[in-house]
This record gives sequence, structure tokens and C-alpha cells, in this order.
Amino acid sequence: LSTMATPDSIPPPAKPLDAIESAKRKAAFRAVQDHFKSSYNFVGIGSGSTIVYGVEAIKHHLSTNPPPQNHMNWFVPTGWNSRKVIEEAGLVPINFDSLPGDAMLDVCFDGADEVDAELNCIKGGGACLFQEKLVATRSKRFICIADYRKQQRRLLTQWPSIPIEVAPIGHVSVLRELELLGSNGPKIREHTLAKAGPIQTDQSFYIIDAPFAKLLTPEDVAEGADGSGKGGVWEVSALAERIKRITGVLEVGLFYGMNGDQTQAAGMKGGQKPV
Ligand code: 5RP
Repeated sequence: LSTMATPDSIPPPAKPLDAIESAKRKAAFRAVQDHFKSSYNFVGIGSGSTIVYGVEAIKHHLSTNPPPQNHMNWFVPTGWNSRKVIEEAGLVPINFDSLPGDAMLDVCFDGADEVDAELNCIKGGGACLFQEKLVATRSKRFICIADYRKQQRRLLTQWPSIPIEVAPIGHVSVLRELELLGSNGPKIREHTLAKAGPIQTDQSFYIIDAPFAKLLTPEDVAEGADGSGKGGVWEVSALAERIKRITGVLEVGLFYGMNGDQTQAAGMKGGQKPV
């Protein structure tokens, strides 16, 4: 997690930025400074407004630290928009399903909507969560770029709901199941302006935004709190796994257990601290 920490050097922005945009850009340059290498083969690129600065920072890094001769850096997009950002920066995209079978990505950079004390994230504010999770879970490291507004002790403190990607035909039954798990008023995400109807993802699925009570961290549970869902109070991974079991759910916008080196698939355990 890269928050407000200032990178060693950062080129001036192309146009003046307000305080929030400037914080996003600083976090992005810091994340790239600490976690990107020109020798990397495959790099995941998430979605949203912060990652645009991440790609700018990668471009800057490559111009000041060129890769070894004949070395290719491939960038794996997490959706249509992310591919556009990669291409517009003059970087080379590669589809997730064109990766060599056993290749892991060296790193994946992405944004988040909210991040808790143990670096679990809510993602999907931009409706791209499925491909983001696909790419993140095949990366040796998942680097989440988040400015100061996103960091909270518990998830669902400022960000109100969990984005969930669902098959359109199953959305009514998924909404009902979410209510039974304690979600207070889950809703299909709709277009807000001229265009009517549900927003569709890159998979032509729908997004449900499901409000729950603030989520407990694994540390809360270790200290004795009951995060099993009784009374609608859940621990992050328990809720994510329960929602994922609902038929019709493609993916849940809770990213957890990615705090550390993921080279060993089963060994996604701590170590990495916010910078
Ligand atoms: C898109 C995402 C984004 O990473 C998340 O919404 C953060 O976006 P931004 O950087 O614009 O705040 O998960 O689905």
C-alpha cells in the first residue's frame, strides 16, 4: 500500500493538479519507485483514476532506467479502459489469456476504494473487479496504490458497500441471498445520466453494491470478536468466501490475503508494510 509518502523524485505534472489528484500521483510514483523494475517481464495494470498515474510513473521509470537490450516489458490490462491507458502511454499490452501457461506476473499495480489496517481492500468502484482479481492473484506481488482518503481501520467505514459482479439472469436471487447474509439494501448499480438501466461490466455482467456493517479484520477475530456473520457482523475473508458461494456471483470486490509475496500460492502471508 502506497499512501502519501513522497517519492525521492517526481517530475512536474503536465497540468496543475488539485490536492487529491496530487496525492494520488505521489502515491503512484512512490509505488513504482519501490516496486517496479525495468527488467520485469509481465506487469498487471489495474483500473481507475489512480492507476493512470501509475502508468505515467512506469513510463517515466522506463525512460530513465531503460530495460536491458532486447528485453520486452509486457503489460496485462484488467479491462477495456486499462488497455486504453496502457496503449496511450505507448506500452505494450498482452491479454491475460495469452500469458505463457506457467508464467506469473512480476507485479500488479492497482487502486482501491478503501483499505483496512491489514491491507485488505474494497475494489470495484469502477466496475472492473473480476479481471482485476484474475490478474492480481496471478501476480507475485499485488501493489495497491491508495491516497490518504482510502485508509481506514475497518472496511466499509467511508466506502458504503461491497461491489459484487453477478450474472444478469441470477441478479434477483443474489440480491435476496445478500439480504439473508445481513446486507441492508443491496442494489444493482445503474447508469446515472442519460443512459438508463444497469451498468454492464467488461464481461457483460451486472454489479451489485451491497452495504454491510463495518467488516472486522483477522486481528479483531484473533482478539476474540465473532466475525462469522451472526447479527450481520462479518470478518473480511469470511464474508468474501460466503458471498462467492452464492450461485450467480462471478467475483466479490474484497481483496484479502494478498499482503506479501504470493509466489507460493498457499503462502499469501504478511510482511509487507504500508510505505
Ligand atoms: C475499479 C477499481 C479501482 O481500482 C478503484 O475503484 C479505485 O479507483 P480510483 O483510483 O479512481 O479511486 O477497483 O473497479
